[in-house]
Amino acid sequence: MRVIQVKNYDEMSLKAAHIIRAQVELKPDCVLGFATGSTPLGTYANLVKWCKEDGLDFSQVKSVNLDEYKGLPKDHDQSYAYFMDKNLFSQINIDKANTYLPDGMCVDGDAECKRYDELIKSLGGADLQLLGIGNNGHIGFNEPADCFQNGTYCVELTESTIEANSRLFEKKEDVPRFAFSMGSGTIMSAKRVLLIANGKAKAEAIKGLMAGPITPGCPASILQMHPDCTVIVDDEAMSLVTG
Ligand code: GLP
Repeated sequence: MRVIQVKNYDEMSLKAAHIIRAQVELKPDCVLGFATGSTPLGTYANLVKWCKEDGLDFSQVKSVNLDEYKGLPKDHDQSYAYFMDKNLFSQINIDKANTYLPDGMCVDGDAECKRYDELIKSLGGADLQLLGIGNNGHIGFNEPADCFQNGTYCVELTESTIEANSRLFEKKEDVPRFAFSMGSGTIMSAKRVLLIANGKAKAEAIKGLMAGPITPGCPASILQMHPDCTVIVDDEAMSLVTG
């Protein structure tokens, strides 16, 4: 695992965007794995700027997203489909037909998980998967559990995740209790992984990711076994590792 420690959010966002930019320039028809949450917003803002001002070209890029809330339609302002469209897809020259997320409104959850796994496989997997991290060490929506999941599945969100994500909803009761998420196996099969984290609230999770045992109790810890994983982390999020 390669660790890049930075001073703050802006530096983290710039470095992460540079790595994604390099991926797109090296392989214009690459498959990018995208993440949601507040952490990648600055990274996406840099990519938007470069696309608009420097001609960074996403026209051949395909994308797969990590996860989606179960029960939220694409046009709900807290759905991840809406988030991606608003913060990235509508602002760059990606072909929206080449952007994929699990369908939160599917009728048959098992069939949807199967469909999403097959889709990712048919694209050849992600060349670069961007990840944030939850305060409890979750990646995508792989919550702390007794075992790692392989493919896409429907997960019951933990209280701590519901609490953390409730800031974005009108009230806590509005946060969906379930989500579809790529499993840890799918995340691990990405050719490259780039995890970004900033702020004190992530310090415990970063400690688990870097210095803890590999355990489904801290889902991000599985990344210790990934052959090409880069973590960009600011001083605050790194504080429990560096002491
Ligand atoms: C959600 C997403 C994760 C994200 C996490 C952290 O639970 N499913 O992919 O990493 O939130 O979000 P934030 O970046 O807002 O701290």
